[in-house]
Amino acid sequence: MKSLLLSFTLLGLVAVLKAQEVPSDDQKDYSGIWYPKAMIHNGSLSSHNIPSKVFPVKVTALEGGDMESDVIFWKNGQCHEVKILMKKTDEPGKFISFDDKRFIYITALPVKDHYVIYCEGRFPGELLGMGKLIGRNPEENPEAMEEFKKFVLRKGLKEENIIVRELNEHCVPESD
Ligand SMILES: *[C@@H]1O[C@H](CO)[C@@H](O)[C@H](O)[C@H]1NC(C)=O
Repeated sequence: MKSLLLSFTLLGLVAVLKAQEVPSDDQKDYSGIWYPKAMIHNGSLSSHNIPSKVFPVKVTALEGGDMESDVIFWKNGQCHEVKILMKKTDEPGKFISFDDKRFIYITALPVKDHYVIYCEGRFPGELLGMGKLIGRNPEENPEAMEEFKKFVLRKGLKEENIIVRELNEHCVPESD
């Protein structure tokens, strides 16, 4: 009886401790509009696949820690929007695309409201690694750009593969 009581007490304690845990990285809310400021690829991206225009990206948090992002790309003189579903994994900041073909990593930079989102996997026709520096506002931020370069070098990627395109707000993700 005593040991039973003790286990209950311990259980209660664990529950209290759990409730006090600070929200971890994977509970971070990435929802909202993000502005891409630079791109990087690992050398596998052929030049005809390098986007000529970049647009804001909309992220929506789904139930259970998954996310959806609405990405706009420019093709044949028009904006096209694709929805990308990202399932969370046990690793904070690591997601997997719903078709299990791509891993997506989100890394916070030491500059407020700036992140790197890096994808690895199969893009139509090719295996590649590709990343974006994104920020909560569209303004240029030289400090964030410096941190992005450091990220690129830490990852063993080449600085010359950094691509900067003027942000285009002609098309914005539809809010639904
Ligand atoms: C780029 O990354 C992809 C996915 O990780 C890999 O399969 C490919 O070999 C890499 N390409 C180069 C040139 O490193």
